[in-house]
Amino acid sequence: MKILVTGGAGFIGSHTVVELHHAGYESIIFDNFSNSEKAVLAGLETIIGKPVTCYEADINDPAAWDKVFTENKIDGIIHFAAFKAVGESVSEPLKYYRNNVAATVLMLEKMEEHKVSNLVFSSSCTVYGQPESLPVTELSKVQPANSPYGNTKQICEEIITDTVATNRGLKAISLRYFNPIGAHESVLIGELPLGVPANLVPFITQTVAGLRGQLSVFGDDYPTSDGTAVRDYIHVVDLAKAHVAALALLLKQQEKTTYYDYFNIGTGTGSSVLEVITAFETATGLKVNYAIKPRREGDVTAVYADCSKSNEILGWKAEKTLTEALGDAWKWQLAVVNRK
Ligand code: NAD
Ligand code: WQD
Repeated sequence: MKILVTGGAGFIGSHTVVELHHAGYESIIFDNFSNSEKAVLAGLETIIGKPVTCYEADINDPAAWDKVFTENKIDGIIHFAAFKAVGESVSEPLKYYRNNVAATVLMLEKMEEHKVSNLVFSSSCTVYGQPESLPVTELSKVQPANSPYGNTKQICEEIITDTVATNRGLKAISLRYFNPIGAHESVLIGELPLGVPANLVPFITQTVAGLRGQLSVFGDDYPTSDGTAVRDYIHVVDLAKAHVAALALLLKQQEKTTYYDYFNIGTGTGSSVLEVITAFETATGLKVNYAIKPRREGDVTAVYADCSKSNEILGWKAEKTLTEALGDAWKWQLAVVNRK
């Protein structure tokens, strides 16, 4: 079966291409490399031991969709391609609405035109904002987004829901990811943040590698066990496997004309910033140079997942520990530094 992976050269997409291969699917990557490197393709080919098909094109280009769909019989799409920098989305909202929302609308139009019915969509725990109670389940309220980026994820989920409801053949699953970290054990693929990383784990690894002077811990006055904010950090390989499970579930719905569901994809465990630092030090035997700084604007206090629904319905569960994920993130950082 052929699966089109938009954003397949990116962090989560590339790991998903590997897991799709292990599960017997053929991936076709659709990526314009706006936030990834072509070297990812060589890394993927080494890991899976065969050539990878890639369309280097923009998901905003209608002709590119026609070309991919005319040249291939696509059984399903996993739609990762999007911009994801929360801060940039505040200063450049239209860039985010164009790439994340308008391109998703175009994709849905092209899916209908070319009769492609199965879609897995990359959503985010950001849709929950600061939940009223924890852990957060899929029944928890979707809160008003605190950034244009977060808004694009909510809007896309709604667009997909409305499109499924037209009963014209679309079947879809949205996966609400918590905080993906780590890298493939081969260290041939991983996260490639451009410039100064906004996310915690790449900032830790770059600090320990000597590329940054010091990690700022944003706030130690939150109402949590040690005062630092709490998140659910999931190994990217576990997250990639959730996509394979979602696809398998979609493909089982063939007798239905319509299907939509959404799932939390996390570990179920919340970790504070200081706990992540300690786990990193345990995993690597290295010290993290950090200082406590004021809270970062827009951050929530704590969010972590209840994954019972994905455990039961997707038959998926995160397997890797935080320490393993941080160890893999560090190995990846070393590989990146040594490659330069
Ligand atoms: P990433 O930036 O590493 O990967 C995205 C890929 O999409 C990149 O390879 C980029 O070149 C490509 N792309 C972007 N715009 C494109 C366009 N117009 N045409 C073709 N290709 C395009 O990001 P990621 O971390 O792998 O995230 C993947 C998806 O998961 C995104 O939709 C993101 O919003 C979502 N998500 C990410 C996180 C996270 O923390 N990384 C958390 C929740 C949800
Ligand atoms: C984690 C914790 C920070 C950096 C973001 C997006 C979210 C989703 C995942 C896509 C927070 C603290 C961080 C640093 C720190 N992406 N921190 N020092 O904010 O939970 O989520 O990525 O959908 O939408 O908002 O992740 O890694 O930025 O932060 O103390 O230098 O680490 O304050 O508590 P976040 P993060």
